Amino acid sequence: MEDFDKLRKNIRSLIYLVILLIVAAVLLIVFFMNGGGKKTQLDVVPSAVDSSQFKSVSLDNATDLWTPPSEDVLQKLEKEKVAQINYGKDLIANTAKYFGPMGSIAQITNGMNCQNCHLEAGTKPYGNNYSAVYTTYPKYRARSGAVEDIYKRVTDCFERSLNGKAPLKGSKEMEAIVSYINFLGTNVEKGKNAKGSGIYELKFLDRPADPTKGKSVYLAKCVSCHKEDGSGIKSEDKVTYQYPPLWGANAYNTGAGLYRISRFAGYIKANMPFGATYKEPQLTDEEAWDIAAYVNSMPHPSKDISKDWPKVEEKIFDHPFGPFADGFSEEQHKFGPFAAKKKCNNP
Ligand code: HEC
Ligand code: HEC
Repeated sequence: MEDFDKLRKNIRSLIYLVILLIVAAVLLIVFFMNGGGKKTQLDVVPSAVDSSQFKSVSLDNATDLWTPPSEDVLQKLEKEKVAQINYGKDLIANTAKYFGPMGSIAQITNGMNCQNCHLEAGTKPYGNNYSAVYTTYPKYRARSGAVEDIYKRVTDCFERSLNGKAPLKGSKEMEAIVSYINFLGTNVEKGKNAKGSGIYELKFLDRPADPTKGKSVYLAKCVSCHKEDGSGIKSEDKVTYQYPPLWGANAYNTGAGLYRISRFAGYIKANMPFGATYKEPQLTDEEAWDIAAYVNSMPHPSKDISKDWPKVEEKIFDHPFGPFADGFSEEQHKFGPFAAKKKCNNP
């Protein structure tokens, strides 16, 4: 009887031990499947990214990207200055209301807003923001072959991106726009570019960008807003665009920044489809270059740019019109590959 009790106790202990071992093993497996406590690549992939083809994570993990001066800083300025800066911001965000085909001040543009391309009134990181303007102008620009001030640069975008005319220097509107742009740059060191400024610089492909591939991505990811014919969609009031045009009569002209495919590709990589950010891009680099090639192969209003790039040897690598000093064709300057950049200007 005593022996039997002992045996029973031993068997029970053995069963407990086995259960304990199984539990420990399961816990260990779960722990290692989660990366053994270390952060894996997977943990840092933002969840909202369309991960169908996209592999890289954020374009920039820096925590010190530029942000605009705060409302507090603005309110410390003189009342009149504050009003002027706020008016400038409104002109950037709602340009068409004042200067579009139904503009209340003058009808001198294609109906786009500066903000269509300079997102969040020129404050979004890698959203073509204005953080570098106040600190780096006046500066020499090879496109004009001259030293340009901010008025000249703003006028350029009115004449090219908005395919129209600019309000004159000294007018209430031009002064307000320049005041606002200057204010945005007041927290950047003179002569410096803040992190996240302007447009994201994409790596070059080692093949030419392909408009045919670009068209199929465009049809999948862009038509819902910009339409199949690239003409965009007007707002209900018809004064402005809900979704701005990408080509056709009301789009930017052939002298505009976006007509260079590196500018277009870098802009959409960090910002389109609308809602994408540098943290959660939704296009692969190849898709961005190919869409840029497609959109810039479609018709745009032409601009007389015969006076641009007066020094041929300073012409930028992706300006698609000759003559060139480097022996490459217009085709290569339009689509790349740009890897032979020793010979193509790439400042
Ligand atoms: C169709 C798109 C588009 C529109 C609309 C547009 N711009 Fe631009 N703008 C650009 C591009 C592209 C650049 C060049 C950015 C680069 O090369 O990094 C640029 C550059 C600039 C710059 C110089 C930025 C720098 O850091 O050197 C200023 C200033 C500017 N734009 C002002 C304006 C103003 C003001 C308006 C409205 C009147 C406007 N832009 C409308 C696309 C646009
Ligand atoms: C959900 C709607 C939507 C989708 C999808 C979308 N966009 Fe846009 N896009 C916008 C809006 C809205 C703006 C203007 C943003 C603003 O004014 O704040 C814009 C602006 C632009 C601009 C600058 C302004 C212009 O008209 O030249 C370009 C270039 C652009 N989009 C390209 C694309 C491309 C390429 C795709 C596809 C990869 C795409 N967008 C997908 C809504 C969209």
